[in-house]
Amino acid sequence: MITTSDTVTLDSGHRMPLVGFGTWQVGRKAVAIAAAAGYRSFDTAAMYANEKQVGDGFRDAGLTPDDVFLTSKVWRSDMGYQSTLRSYAASCRNLGVDALDLFLIHWPHSDDRVMIETWRAMEHLLEQGDVESIGVSNFSESDLDLLAAHSNVVPAVNQIELNPLRPHTTLRGENQRRGIVTTAWSPLGQGGPLLACPELTSIASQHGVSEAQVVLRWMLQKQIVAIPRSSNPQRIAQNIDLDGFELTDAQIARIDSLAR
Ligand code: A2P
Repeated sequence: MITTSDTVTLDSGHRMPLVGFGTWQVGRKAVAIAAAAGYRSFDTAAMYANEKQVGDGFRDAGLTPDDVFLTSKVWRSDMGYQSTLRSYAASCRNLGVDALDLFLIHWPHSDDRVMIETWRAMEHLLEQGDVESIGVSNFSESDLDLLAAHSNVVPAVNQIELNPLRPHTTLRGENQRRGIVTTAWSPLGQGGPLLACPELTSIASQHGVSEAQVVLRWMLQKQIVAIPRSSNPQRIAQNIDLDGFELTDAQIARIDSLAR
């Protein structure tokens, strides 16, 4: 049975935990609670303006950088060759680490030239051994095509907004075809209508778990990396407590059918 301790191997050869902690609008205390609850992967971004809190948070729980998988992202206004290199150095400094496990382009840029220059800087960081893996976020198929036309380095990850209502089946298949691991941001639909779906409530009650746990278990069994976020200690713990039940094929199919 697949568990929350399992990892996925990225195109770079490095391994990434299948469940991580999303930190948008999340502070030091929640990161420390998450680290104590067992999360070993933390996803931040320059734009979140909380990299320092994330670094302090996992250390508060007694973890060192070697214990965790750290992701950050270059923001749109910092894209371009030199400014991407500067952004990477600032992220490392803020997190208090020598290198990140994964560095992403946060959003595609409307100017192709800026996109390509940014990816060249990311490739440089990879070649120098300054970062373990590089990837993208919120990229469409055509954005991936643009990089592929100018580079032989395939993004290790494409992090997209994904949940059972918006499963992005086509883009997920396209990522897979290219050797790109899909990561789901806001896997819980930002706590909105998704978690009120009666189908999820029914499956949740059969297993004695919450709707959120059903959604996250669905991702785990599909080997989609998920980075749920919460500032509530009970929900932080619940979101990584996924190993005590397994969804049947029929339940997975019912959740698949929620796609709009
Ligand atoms: P809170 O911080 O009060 O727990 P997403 O990861 O999809 O962006 O969702 C994050 C939102 O969902 C937050 O508002 C968070 O609120 C809420 N949330 C996180 N975990 C759960 C859960 N297990 N059950 C219900 N809501 C949750």
